[in-house]
Amino acid sequence: MIRRPRRNRQTEAIRNMVQETSLSTHDFIYPLFIIEGQNQRVEVSSMPGINRFSIDTALEEVAACVESGVKAFAPFPSINERLKDKYATESHNPEGLFPTLIREIKRNFPDVALVTDVAMDPYSSDGHDGIVINGEIINDETLEVLGKMALTQAQAGADIVAPSDMMDGRVGHIRKVLDENGFHKVAIMSYTAKYASAFYGPFRDALDSAPKAGDKKTYQMNYANSREALIEAELDTLEGADYLMVKPALSYLDVIKLLRENSHLPIAAYNVSGEYAMVKAAAQKGWIDGEKIMLETLTSIKRAGADIILSYFAKEFAQYLRK
Ligand code: PBG
Repeated sequence: MIRRPRRNRQTEAIRNMVQETSLSTHDFIYPLFIIEGQNQRVEVSSMPGINRFSIDTALEEVAACVESGVKAFAPFPSINERLKDKYATESHNPEGLFPTLIREIKRNFPDVALVTDVAMDPYSSDGHDGIVINGEIINDETLEVLGKMALTQAQAGADIVAPSDMMDGRVGHIRKVLDENGFHKVAIMSYTAKYASAFYGPFRDALDSAPKAGDKKTYQMNYANSREALIEAELDTLEGADYLMVKPALSYLDVIKLLRENSHLPIAAYNVSGEYAMVKAAAQKGWIDGEKIMLETLTSIKRAGADIILSYFAKEFAQYLRK
């Protein structure tokens, strides 16, 4: 045998030397769930280790993360039921929970990167990402709401707005609204290939944002498709997206790779709530080694081609690196 690949695996020093992919805390964006009130820190039952924070405790959490090296955050609000309506009006109230949080984070931590979610569902009495008329999701009227929401977030201090709604034309519309209002520096991270996935279950529990009727299959993508992701990527790029995202991550590593190979933009992947919950549940039962699975899955997402990983593991990973 002339070729013996095992030579390059002989010792840890050699293995480290030939390692192709490594993770750093800089790769991560940490999602945060935000609720009303004060001094709240309520664990999401299906996501051990992940809490819903009021603004004051969220600031403490941001401080703890920054301390361990995580400096990018993606907050998501849980909106009081009485503030929800058909048109998600609360989503562009500058005094609402979410813009207030953005201002507070930026005032206390001007150097963190804030990636804010643009979608109607947490504010919609229908629990959908678009306006619902006679059971149908109305695309173009929804763009108006998304534009106002993105502008409100930019005015509050968001660095990057991240439309996660999957309406057609939203990136272009948001870009136009931001530019017309002088926010040409605010970037757009588009949820480019967002699939209609059962992996979002724990997130919808955390925010109480599940659709009241029907499902999201007329706007989120069919998980059987990958070429369709290229169409979305092409449109988002033409419309001015600064980042493309694939969501979920683990069952979609092929899609991450596909976008990586077909775009020069940074590619983000969202390691979603259900992916986190599966690891935590099996680890709690003692069926898998949670820490090793965390490292293996996060590395696989990066190996597939993601530059950026949104993950509920971000803080735990940073703490793991420190010890
Ligand atoms: C909503 C949104 C969802 C997630 C992020 N933004 C849920 C959905 O589309 O129903 C899911 C994230 C996760 O599961 O971790 N626009």
